[in-house]
Amino acid sequence: MDGVTVINHPLVQHKLTIMRKKETSTAGFRRLLREISTLLCYEVTRDLELTHETIDTPLTTIDAPVLEGKKLVFASILRAGNGLLEGMLELVPSARVCHIGVYRDHDTLEAVEYYFKAPESLAERLTIVVDPMLATGNSSIAAVEKLKERGAVNLRFLCLLAAPEGIRNFQAAHPDVPIYTASIDSHLNEKGYIVPGLGDAGDRMYGTK
Ligand code: URA
Repeated sequence: MDGVTVINHPLVQHKLTIMRKKETSTAGFRRLLREISTLLCYEVTRDLELTHETIDTPLTTIDAPVLEGKKLVFASILRAGNGLLEGMLELVPSARVCHIGVYRDHDTLEAVEYYFKAPESLAERLTIVVDPMLATGNSSIAAVEKLKERGAVNLRFLCLLAAPEGIRNFQAAHPDVPIYTASIDSHLNEKGYIVPGLGDAGDRMYGTK
């Protein structure tokens, strides 16, 4: 599918299968989410530009590769996005973090923002928006809208599972934002859950159900 990268690394797929199982405990789910998020982060950052700086090793001086440009931004869509954030920050501890609380009003279809905190100069940074589930796409579309309003121009969207409906909606709204996911599942059910999915990601990671 154009604009969508499915991260089918065997370790990602194996961990995802355990996360999907209904008998996986909250503690297990959280641990797996942290582990899988480092692997997803590795893939979503695979093509980042490098530059070189001169360093001294104990033996000699070399031009060595370092990431180019300003620090990355990880933008977490509350609340489930925070589950992906943890592992990603382990891999890129210097990344800046943005938290976005947003939903789409059913009647007005306006994006309602109840929380937004982002680092400065979004325009000069790569922003990786994270939410485990791309279901209808409503909150993800709204979150990216809010980031663009604040100047973000270089964005990627990372999730664990995506529904075909969510991908279609998201790409219609933000054709410039590539999607990275561990799986494209079958469909959304009448309640907006991804099938086969893994249930409510927030509830499963925080034990709220
Ligand atoms: N959000 C979830 O947590 N799970 C779904 O299946 C859909 C949206």
